[in-house]
Parts: sequence; structure tokens; C-alpha cells
Amino acid sequence: MQMNEVNNLNEDDKIHGQKCKKRDQDARQAALQRWNILREVILSGRGGGGDDSVSVRRFKSYGLLSTNKVTVDADSPDTARNWFIYTCPSQPDFSMQIRHLSDHVTPEALRGFNNTGNVCVWPSEEVMTYYCLKHPDVFRNKCVIELGGGMTCLTGVSLGLQSAASYIELTDGNEDSVSNLQVIVERNLPKAKAELSSKLLRWGSGPLDADLAGKFDIVLCADCLFFKEGRQDLITTIHDLLKPDGEAWLFAPKRGETFDEFVVQARSQFLVTVQQIYDDQIWKLHTQMESLGQDHYDADIHYPWFIHLTPLPGPSREDSSER
Ligand SMILES: C[S@@+](CC[C@H](N)C(=O)[O-])C[C@H]1O[C@@H](n2cnc3c(N)ncnc32)[C@H](O)[C@@H]1O
Repeated sequence: MQMNEVNNLNEDDKIHGQKCKKRDQDARQAALQRWNILREVILSGRGGGGDDSVSVRRFKSYGLLSTNKVTVDADSPDTARNWFIYTCPSQPDFSMQIRHLSDHVTPEALRGFNNTGNVCVWPSEEVMTYYCLKHPDVFRNKCVIELGGGMTCLTGVSLGLQSAASYIELTDGNEDSVSNLQVIVERNLPKAKAELSSKLLRWGSGPLDADLAGKFDIVLCADCLFFKEGRQDLITTIHDLLKPDGEAWLFAPKRGETFDEFVVQARSQFLVTVQQIYDDQIWKLHTQMESLGQDHYDADIHYPWFIHLTPLPGPSREDSSER
């Protein structure tokens, strides 16, 4: 072997080593981010149990939706026990049946694909559902997709039952979430006004299916902005899913710098509008919660800000599918 070949080999080893180190660091950072968000569930005592009480030691929800456990026979299997009837006090004729997956954070939640959508319904999903139910006309005849909807996709299901949307796709990247979504769709289908469907959709796992690209008028997404490693993938996925005149509604708390970092990155592909105050009732509840003190309610991790995105003209979908 010539000397310059040995040098090249050493150089290759070095590059390979650096790549592995970077991958390890990214994986550790992603695990830490996941742990931080799951820690919040443990501290709040909030599991998948559907407790809508706001008068608990740690904040669980704004109480914009109500949940009642579906009663089952004592000998029913576990899978039959986690069904809840969701209602919305401001929408008297509305109810949907939703199955939760877990009552507590398990060690499995820290392994495998991101599991933060299977441990509880986060306040951003609750707020997005309430807000969308309040504006059903926006969805009339529209093709809608929810991204990262976790085990419930509350907003998508509620719009399927309550709006005149033409089609609603419920998605998440976690397989357990999507299996649960399928069961929820089947249970609610008889009362649905829109065509409802569920699908595994992982941002950044390759080009979008042809039947999804450029199909949607509205993309919805709650509390999915804090994963640094998936941020650009999420932005590109939203862009690729939308029709040129489509729009995305995102609700998420600040969670440190993560929200603002997302906004900066999104400006490369979207016209971005950010609103802190977008609904009187939600703002009123937020200010009430704040007065209880940070031990109970921490706006940084609880209060969802609203982001509205409209696509800037960008590379054609054929170009972006070569990414
Ligand atoms: C904090 S949870 C929010 C779930 C739900 N929207 C809510 O607010 O209750 C974040 C969700 O993003 C999903 N997610 C994270 N990375 C993803 C990716 N690359 N592709 C698809 N979904 C992803 C997770 O599976 C999880 O359900």
C-alpha cells in the first residue's frame, strides 16, 4: 500500500469517526429533548387519563373540552377501558369518542420512535381543537391534514364530525399512535360529516407519497416545534403537502428558544404570521392561570402561540422530491 493511500485511509477513518460522533450527539440531544417533555407529564401527574380538571396542583388543561370516561363492564379488556367522550361546553351539539393509550409514562416511552404523543393530550392540541371548532366555516369543502397529532388527533377528528371539510387525514410518525387513530376513526365514522382517514406520516423519511403531495388546503399541527432534529423536515413536509394557495395553522408553546427558532427557519419557505393573542376566551384562561403562579402554570411550556403559514413560491415538488 502506498503512503498516500494510507493517508487517505486515515482521513476516511477520521471523517467516519466524526460522523459517528455527530450522530451520537444528535441522538443524545433528541433523547434529552424527549425526556424533558415527558418529565413535564410526570410532574403534572397528567397521563392519558383524560382528566380535564384545571384545579390541580400542576396545570393539565384549560378545561376548554370536557371528558367523561365511557363506562364498561368489569371484565372488559384493557383496550375497552380507555375510551372517553369528549364534549365542548361552547358547542352544545358536539361529542366524539376518543381512545387514549396510557395512564402513565413507561420506560418504553423513552425508547423507540418519539412517544410524546402517546402519554397525554397536550394543551396545544386542546386549544387548537377549541379554536378550529369555533371557526368551522374555514374548513368548508377543504382537504385538511393534521401532522404529529399523537394518539388522538383531537382536532382532526373533531373537524371530521363538526365541520363541512371534504377530507381529513389524521397522521403521526409513531406507529402506536396511528394504530390508535385507526380505531378512533372506525368508532367515529358513523357520525362523521367529512371523509376521515389515518396514516403513518414521518417527516423527513423520504419523498411524500404522490397522493399526498400538493393535495391539502390546510395543514394543522400542535406542539411539534421543539424537536430540533426534525424541524427542517417538518417545514419542508408542510410546504410539500400544501396546495400553492393553502395555509398551515400551528399551535405551540415557546418551550425555550425552540418556537422562535422554528419561526426563523420557516421564513425561508413561508410567509409567517405569529400571534400571541388570537382568542379572547383562551387569553382569559391563560391570564387566570398565570395568576396562580409558576408552580402551577408555566406559560413557556403551556401557553400555545399561533403561527399562520402561507407558502412562498418555491422549488417544484419534483425538485424537492430529489432532496
Ligand atoms: C408533543 S407530541 C404532540 C402530540 C399532539 N399534537 C398533542 O399536542 O397532544 C409531538 C408529536 O410529534 C410526533 N413526531 C415527532 N417527530 C415526528 C416525525 N419526524 N414525523 C412525524 N411525527 C413526529 C410524535 O410522534 C408526537 O406524537
